[in-house]
Amino acid sequence: MSVFAGCGDSPAEYNTIGSWLCAGTPILLSDGDRIRAAVAEVDRPVADTEPMCHYCGCRDMPLIKEFIAEHEAVYNLSGDIRRALESGDIDTARRDLVEIQRQLTEHWAGEEQGLFAVMRDDPDCTDYIDALEAEHREMTTDLSTADLTTPEGRQQVLASLATLWPHIEKEEDGLFPMSLTTLSGEQWTAAIDAWERVHRRPVRR
Ligand SMILES: [Fe+2]
Ligand SMILES: [Fe+2]
Repeated sequence: MSVFAGCGDSPAEYNTIGSWLCAGTPILLSDGDRIRAAVAEVDRPVADTEPMCHYCGCRDMPLIKEFIAEHEAVYNLSGDIRRALESGDIDTARRDLVEIQRQLTEHWAGEEQGLFAVMRDDPDCTDYIDALEAEHREMTTDLSTADLTTPEGRQQVLASLATLWPHIEKEEDGLFPMSLTTLSGEQWTAAIDAWERVHRRPVRR
């Protein structure tokens, strides 16, 4: 991997993958209050997570905006499922569980067939992408095999959904900023084409 300039002076200002990516400078993760206020709007677990990178410019890329909107949608849905399970509303939890699996399947296909596929051209990225895709598979299995009528099944879903935010962080703090500095125009076009094939609509620009 070639160019990654630093994320700030203090290790506390960026997460593990952020520091791995940023050996030199520009992805600043300070101004935590503003970031926390923004992420709080989408019901995210702000208090126990590091602020996400909002400074490298990747969030201005139309394809990345689509991915981030999908992250927000599935994360909010995961909160609905958790609350439904905690209140004993199994019917609502079951309905939302079907919907989140549908959304995740489409989202992951868009990632894996597009952005991830072109980033695999960089051999330094393959292990990281392999790990992300393994998390997709694990979550797919855990969510699709849980029996919500049993305490074990409900716990299986809750435990799986608890892994969603850390997974999203790895992409938004790591892979997405990295894509901005590594992908060529042709690779972006290929990533967008794949996303549009999966979603059967154009990326919003
Ligand atoms: Fe993912
Ligand atoms: Fe994702």
